[in-house]
Amino acid sequence: MERIKVTSPATSANLGPGYDIFGLALSEPYDTITLSRSKEGISISLKGKGAEKIPTDVDRNTAGVVAREMIKDFNIEEGVKIEIEKGIRPGSGLGSSAASSAGVAFAMNELFNLNLSKLELVKYASLGESISAGFPHADNVAPAIYGGFTMVINYDPLEVLHIPVDFEVVVALPDIEVSTKKAREILPDSVPLRSMVNNVGKACGMIYSLFKDDVELFGRCMMGDKIVEPYRSQLIPGYSEVKEEVRDLVYGITISGSGPGVIIVPKEGEVSKIKEILNEVWGCPVYHTKVGSGVQILERD
Ligand code: HSE
Repeated sequence: MERIKVTSPATSANLGPGYDIFGLALSEPYDTITLSRSKEGISISLKGKGAEKIPTDVDRNTAGVVAREMIKDFNIEEGVKIEIEKGIRPGSGLGSSAASSAGVAFAMNELFNLNLSKLELVKYASLGESISAGFPHADNVAPAIYGGFTMVINYDPLEVLHIPVDFEVVVALPDIEVSTKKAREILPDSVPLRSMVNNVGKACGMIYSLFKDDVELFGRCMMGDKIVEPYRSQLIPGYSEVKEEVRDLVYGITISGSGPGVIIVPKEGEVSKIKEILNEVWGCPVYHTKVGSGVQILERD
């Protein structure tokens, strides 16, 4: 194979109580990534949403770091040309950097026949996250690789659990800058035992809901985070207002990843009213989408 083209999806990490653990793959938006063999070295070109903000220098680009490490670890004696079309705006809270990292890890595996497992692909893809977040959190790259709902239950060694699920979500993308590094720094180092008990309880409710197809329970527990959201909501003007106004139209609403994106589990038939409210407060892009199946191959030749 000389060339492979894949789509790599947006993902929503944390989902309230599952900070750095839970992640959900979305069907939209997504990045489109083409990898071609070259004689030597790594070249990166970018276009699409927010591409001008992303460095193309290999060591500072999340996808470049993933390709560099895979070439080194597997003694690949060729180079690779990486072309990324961003469908996911960087700094959105929808795993923009993770989509590029996961797409490149997946495509490298196919292009050079590395036969890596999904878990190994998550490990490589999470190396890219160190560049953008300062910590190789895997809760965005895991769903991008596995699809559905994932849980990173251990970091060292990395352990990921996967549950295939299928339900609708609404995702809003306010035009506000929130850096993941800043959104991590704002969080406390330790939390009260009561808050921990609350969040573990809600996280258990979410997992149970997935096995019972109980989207109401999922949304209600997702909204029950008492640790992260209170701090991060301060970084998103309009968030408290939106949360209050959509209360009767949704099963749940929370910040997507480190924000400013917001993920909503809508009640049946209420999506247009929810969109109106989001539009009034933020006038921003809104995706009515559903859980997706992770990186997909578009073409190979
Ligand atoms: N778990 C990470 C965080 C996700 O909340 O910082 C970043 O998208």
